[in-house]
Amino acid sequence: MEDEFEGKFIALEGPDGCGKSTQAKLLSEWLESEGYDVKVTREPTENPTGKVLRDALREKKDLPIEAEALLFACDRLVHVSNVIKPNLEVGKIIVTERYVHSSLAYQTARGLSRDWVEEINKFAIEPDFTIFIDVPPQVGFKRVGSSGEADTFEQDLELQKRVREIYKDLAEEGNIPQIDGTKSPKEVHERVKDEIDRFLHA
Ligand code: TYD
Repeated sequence: MEDEFEGKFIALEGPDGCGKSTQAKLLSEWLESEGYDVKVTREPTENPTGKVLRDALREKKDLPIEAEALLFACDRLVHVSNVIKPNLEVGKIIVTERYVHSSLAYQTARGLSRDWVEEINKFAIEPDFTIFIDVPPQVGFKRVGSSGEADTFEQDLELQKRVREIYKDLAEEGNIPQIDGTKSPKEVHERVKDEIDRFLHA
């Protein structure tokens, strides 16, 4: 590891059940073994805004989609100021499970315009690197279904199909590496590791 390493901000993105949490854990363990300080975090957060969101998604409270999008954006800004910036400032690598691309994928798949979703997210700092882990909804569904309660979004196959397509377009557009998430966790990790290694040493 180089001296005086500046913090880096990495986002893992993908549809429900793509394996982000497993990959965030494997990635952080590998980065730590390479000598980096790492902070894994996620959205929706554990902040009050994140809790409201989780409750709403789980209990299927009727939130207007605009209100939901604003809550995600608000939760993100709290995340940036409470967790992301302070950890970047002390030279850590932040690995977040979900960030702005989740809003661009899910909230536009729910019917909102991309311009508006971008507008309400314009105060969120950009990640240094983003990875998209791709799984077809059928695979994601099986995994989510086998790991406890599925929330409103996770139960909607058509929504998941649209989310995946939008993610793919965003990845093409932003030169974001797309990794096949149907492979074993170890194989996916190897691909993630290759991408991050290249990014850190570019
Ligand atoms: P998820 O990653 O599944 O969190 P957890 O594992 O804690 O349940 O996120 C919950 C849901 O929120 C998921 O279906 C994606 C959705 N979501 C959005 O719609 N927009 C966003 O901006 C974010 C961050 C998540």
